[in-house]
Amino acid sequence: MIANSASAFSAVARMAAVAAAASAVALACSSAALARRCASRLGAMRHQSTAAIEEPEPISYLNEEHDMLRQMARDFADAQLVPIAGELDKEHRFPAEQIAMMGELGLMGIAIPEEYGGAGMDPLAYALAMEEISRGCASSGVIMSVNNSLYCDPVYKFGTEEQKQEYLIPYASGQKLGCFGLSEPGNGSDSAAASTTAVLDGDSWVINGTKAWITNAHDAHAAIVIATTDKSLKHKGITAFIVPTDADGFSLGKKEDKLGIRASSTGNLIMENVRVPQSAVLGGVGNGFKVAMSTLDGGRIGIAAQGLGIAQASLECAMEYAQQRKAFNSPIAKLQAIQFKLADMAMRVESARLLTHRAAAMKVNKENYTKEAAMAKLAASEAATANAHAAIQVLGGMGYVTEMPAERYYRDARITEIYEGTSEIQRLVIAGRLLKEYPA
Ligand code: CAA
Repeated sequence: MIANSASAFSAVARMAAVAAAASAVALACSSAALARRCASRLGAMRHQSTAAIEEPEPISYLNEEHDMLRQMARDFADAQLVPIAGELDKEHRFPAEQIAMMGELGLMGIAIPEEYGGAGMDPLAYALAMEEISRGCASSGVIMSVNNSLYCDPVYKFGTEEQKQEYLIPYASGQKLGCFGLSEPGNGSDSAAASTTAVLDGDSWVINGTKAWITNAHDAHAAIVIATTDKSLKHKGITAFIVPTDADGFSLGKKEDKLGIRASSTGNLIMENVRVPQSAVLGGVGNGFKVAMSTLDGGRIGIAAQGLGIAQASLECAMEYAQQRKAFNSPIAKLQAIQFKLADMAMRVESARLLTHRAAAMKVNKENYTKEAAMAKLAASEAATANAHAAIQVLGGMGYVTEMPAERYYRDARITEIYEGTSEIQRLVIAGRLLKEYPA
C-alpha cells in the first residue's frame, strides 16, 4: 500500500543517529527496562505495559521504516512519557524537555521533507508515531499533532519559499512551536463565519479579532490565523495568515483549566491592530477557507491517531489489571463479564486503527481522503472514550483514582470527540461525501 522511499530511510537513519548521539534521547530509546524502572519509582500500582504487549504486533502493510519509527516512538513514550504523564497532568505542566527531545527525534515535523527541517517521512509514519506518543501521554500527543498537521503541513503545502525558510524549518525541526487559529468565541463548527478581520492598509494587513480554544497558544511562536478579508464573499472572502506571536498587538487570554490533556496549553489568541506584511498571506487572498478545511483533513488523521493511542493504552491497562486482580478465587480476566469488555475494547482499537491507517495511506497516495479522515477521527475518538470508560469499569475503584492512569485516559479521551471538528461535524462531512457518491 505504501511505497518505500530513500528519503524516509535516511530520515529514520538520522533519527537513529540522533537517538544514539544525544544522551537524553539515547536514554529514551535504550530499553523497556528503563521504562519499568521509572514507572516503579512512581509506585508499583502505576500502569506499565505488560511484556506481551511491549513489542507492537507487526502490521503487514508497513515498510521497514514505518516499523522502526513506530518502535522508536513507543520506546521513547515508555521511557520518557509514561513515567511522568500523571504528574504533567496534575500540575498542568507543559512537557518542554520531552517536546525538545521529540524535536531532536524528528517527531515534530514527520511528514515534512528534510530540507525544510522535517523527518522526510509520510503521513502514515505520522499516524504511527502519533498513536505511540499519545499512548504514553495524550497531552504530548496533541502538542505534537498541532505542530505537525495544523501548522507545519499547511506552511509546507501552501507556503512560499520565503515562508518555508522562516516559518517552517525551525518549527518542523522542533526548535519552535506553531498553532492554528480557526475557532472563535462565537464561531466553532461554522468556521466560514470568522469575525476576525484583516484589512489591507498600504503594504500591510491589519488583523483584529480573537481566536478561541487554541492548542499550544501559550507555547507557540507563530500562529496560522484565519481571517475574513471580504465579508461579502462569504467563505471565498477568507484568508489565512502566518502571524508571529510576538507581533505588536498580539496577546493571549488565560490558560484554560481543562478536563483533560492538561499538560498542553489552550487559550485565546487576541489580536488588536496586529500588522503583518503582505508576505504573511498563506495560500493566496480568498483561499483561507480551503487552506483551513484541507488542513483539518490532515489534522483529523492526527487526532484519530491520538484517540487510537488513548484507546490502546486503556486496553493495555485493563488487560494487565484483569490478569492480576483476583476475585472469586481467580483472576477477573477469567470472568465472561470482563472478557466481553476486553473483546469489545480490542475490536474498537483494531477497527479504528485500520480506518486511521487507511486515511493516512490515501493521503500518502495523494487521493482525496476527506471522508476517510472524518471516519477515522469519528471511530477512533469514540473508541478512545468507550475504551477509557470500559477500562475504569474493569478496574472498579482503582479505575477511579489517580494512582492508575485509567481516569486520566477517560478525561483525555473526551476532547478527541470535540476538537478538529466534533463527532457531529464528522458525520456531516461523511454524509456530505456519501450524497455525492450515491446521487439520487
Ligand atoms: N478541502 C478543501 N476544500 C474544502 C473542504 C476540504 N476538506 N471542505 C470544503 N471545502 C470547500 C468546498 O469545496 C467549498 O468550496 P467551493 O465553494 O469553491 O466549492 C467550500 O469549501 C465550502 O464548502 P461547504 O459548503 O461544505 O462548507 P460549509 O460552510 O458548509 O462548512 C463544515 C463545512 C464541514 C461544517 C466546516 O465548516 C467544518 O469542518 N467545520 C468544523 C470546523 C472545525 O473542525 N473546527 C475545529 C477547529 S481546529 C482546532 O480544533 C484547533 C486545535 O487547536 C486543536
